[in-house]
Amino acid sequence: MRPIYSFEQYGKMRGVDIQIAAETPPFASLIDLTGKAAIVTGGARGLGFHIVNRLVEAGAKVLIADIATEFAEDAVAHFQGQGGTVEWTPCDVRSTDQIKATVAKAIELFGQIDILVNNAGVMGMEVLPQVTEEDWDDFVDVNAKGGVFFAQAVAAHMVDQGVKGRIVNISSNAVMPYASPYFGEELGYVASKAALIKASEVLAECLAPHGIVVTCLLPGGMRSPGAFLMKRSPDVPIDTTSRAPMAMNPDEVARVAFMMATDVAVFAAGAVISVDSAASLGHRL
Ligand SMILES: NC(=O)c1ccc[n+]([C@@H]2O[C@H](COP(=O)([O-])OP(=O)(O)OC[C@H]3O[C@@H](n4cnc5c(N)ncnc54)[C@H](O)[C@@H]3O)[C@@H](O)[C@H]2O)c1
Repeated sequence: MRPIYSFEQYGKMRGVDIQIAAETPPFASLIDLTGKAAIVTGGARGLGFHIVNRLVEAGAKVLIADIATEFAEDAVAHFQGQGGTVEWTPCDVRSTDQIKATVAKAIELFGQIDILVNNAGVMGMEVLPQVTEEDWDDFVDVNAKGGVFFAQAVAAHMVDQGVKGRIVNISSNAVMPYASPYFGEELGYVASKAALIKASEVLAECLAPHGIVVTCLLPGGMRSPGAFLMKRSPDVPIDTTSRAPMAMNPDEVARVAFMMATDVAVFAAGAVISVDSAASLGHRL
């Protein structure tokens, strides 16, 4: 801890009697995750993979929870090859039983859970007449329900163990009408991602008294496997005119998710953060 100024100096400068912090920790210590353990859902590829990468770089141990076996095995081999402590477990976030089993596995592997990143998501586009009940259920169950019940299970552990943890939820800037050229063709996606934002705010308020910081990111378009493999009904026109900014590398978003998983975010509970290079402001070049 480095002293930045004394109370006496402050009083002299301002002529007021006010209690303020006289010390501030070195920044590097705030982003050091040595000894911390994380679960990243959907960490096998795309944005999740890049979030795992940043957490591991900072010293965290990570359990990837995913359904994409081949991607997950490759990711684990990659990170272990670099000396990282990364494991994966098959987990479909639509199942509360699988969520509970994953949380138990992380505790068994690492002793405790300090960080949860609810990143797993499904993307897709369909025009209104083609929206099916099955698609709607899938969007809501993966994008909203999964995050909520993962947070419930991890928060129970954190509160029980007195862990002042971090929960980072990945929504999307698609909820902002100006941000996505496909806003009108993303009923299930937009609605489920909006639900996750409001759930994040409620979770943040419930958990802040326990020192658990819940935040929610709204990424803009990113080049990821999911973005290219996205389900698209035939009547959705491909917009080739949109110049909404797109991250060429999901790491540009992962860096912000990483910060929200560290002590940088100690006062950020409830934050909903756009990470889209101003797209949600209606930015069109
Ligand atoms: N790519 C974009 O343009 C973009 C923009 C805004 C927000 N997002 C969000 O970012 C997150 C990551 O997306 P991405 O672009 O990396 O996509 P991606 O498809 O490349 O990665 C998503 C990961 O989630 C996993 N997953 C999907 N369903 C799951 C389930 N039921 N249980 C467990 N894991 C499951 C997939 O197997 C995959 O590994 C998603 O929540 C997505 O909605 C993406």
